[in-house]
Amino acid sequence: METIRQILLTRRPTGVPVPQDFALAEAPMPRPGPGEILVKMRVGSVDPAIRGFLDDRPSYLPPVALGAPINGMSLGEVVESHNPAYPVGTLVRAFATWSDHYVIGADALGLEIVHPQPGTELHHYMGALGPVGLTAWVGLFAVGEAKAGETVVVSAAAGATGSTVVQIAKARGCKVIGLVGSAEKAAVIRDLGADAAIDYRATPDIAAEIAKAAPEGVDVYFDNVGGETLEAILPLMRLHGRVAVCGMIGQYNDADHPHGVTTLWQLVVNRLKVQGFITYDYMDRLEEAQRELDGWVAQGKLKPLANLRDGFDKLPEAFIDLMSGKTIGKTIVRI
Ligand SMILES: NC(=O)c1ccc[n+]([C@@H]2O[C@H](COP(=O)([O-])OP(=O)(O)OC[C@H]3O[C@@H](n4cnc5c(N)ncnc54)[C@H](OP(=O)(O)O)[C@@H]3O)[C@@H](O)[C@H]2O)c1
Repeated sequence: METIRQILLTRRPTGVPVPQDFALAEAPMPRPGPGEILVKMRVGSVDPAIRGFLDDRPSYLPPVALGAPINGMSLGEVVESHNPAYPVGTLVRAFATWSDHYVIGADALGLEIVHPQPGTELHHYMGALGPVGLTAWVGLFAVGEAKAGETVVVSAAAGATGSTVVQIAKARGCKVIGLVGSAEKAAVIRDLGADAAIDYRATPDIAAEIAKAAPEGVDVYFDNVGGETLEAILPLMRLHGRVAVCGMIGQYNDADHPHGVTTLWQLVVNRLKVQGFITYDYMDRLEEAQRELDGWVAQGKLKPLANLRDGFDKLPEAFIDLMSGKTIGKTIVRI
């Protein structure tokens, strides 16, 4: 019997996930039904949002069941097709499971055909040239409405989304201040063009540091972390500033004890727009986003940063590293 490999959830993590929360298992090869395709995973995406699906609580997708394969974005090659729109050999990206082969239908979340450009490595289509770039673009421009000459602050600025936000904000002519958790990460984002890099672990007063770097105030805050950082920034926002709430990774490992933000009155004082978003809510803007991202890569203004692992079985350890705050750039596993 032909078999596939899967990464299963064996117990719900407490805090930062550990290897015992996951298991590598074999299952029978699934067969596509009418209109469906069988995809062989080539690149697996390792994302903080997965942490939310491992708790038994409502997130924007249902929780992963115990004993079931983990959900995540995957890029793969069609190896059997019952749908003429996706012939064998087509590269597709979609929300799937951590399975080295999986069956999806045309209605799979985020399903797109990927057309890699010669000379560009495939894994970048899971990073800055894929969901990561689109998230940064949608958050910064569609939600945050950042314009040339404005001041942008971004948290987790050396991470997948943050390092892309830094570069595309510079490409559009913004001033950019990045918040990061180490001196090494600060050096990385300075190299990428950030006007200022603040290591929040090395300062007792993050608000004072941001105010020093942006005495004019902050027009757009691209929030990846929530909590204390959001609380510190709200009073520093300019009149009619925008907060694009991309994620709140600071509380994913301990979702029962979120930090209560005490500065919400500043929403009124500064007439702020605060909006959460999910990238794939903006399907009508993604083509425009992809075009601009491709252009910036071609011009050398956007350098995709990747934290690479090789081997399907490395998915759990890559995820544990990501959720421990250790990584720089987009965490990706190549199969
Ligand atoms: N809305 C959407 O459609 C969408 C799509 C993709 C991602 N997101 C969100 O965007 C944010 C960034 O995701 P990403 O994929 O780009 O991840 P990432 O930034 O590559 O990695 C996570 C980084 O978050 C920071 N962090 C802060 N507090 C943390 C904590 N308590 N535990 C672990 N890490 C912590 C760490 O950087 P420092 O050391 O610099 O703090 C860490 O390196 C997440 O909140 C994610 O959920 C949203």
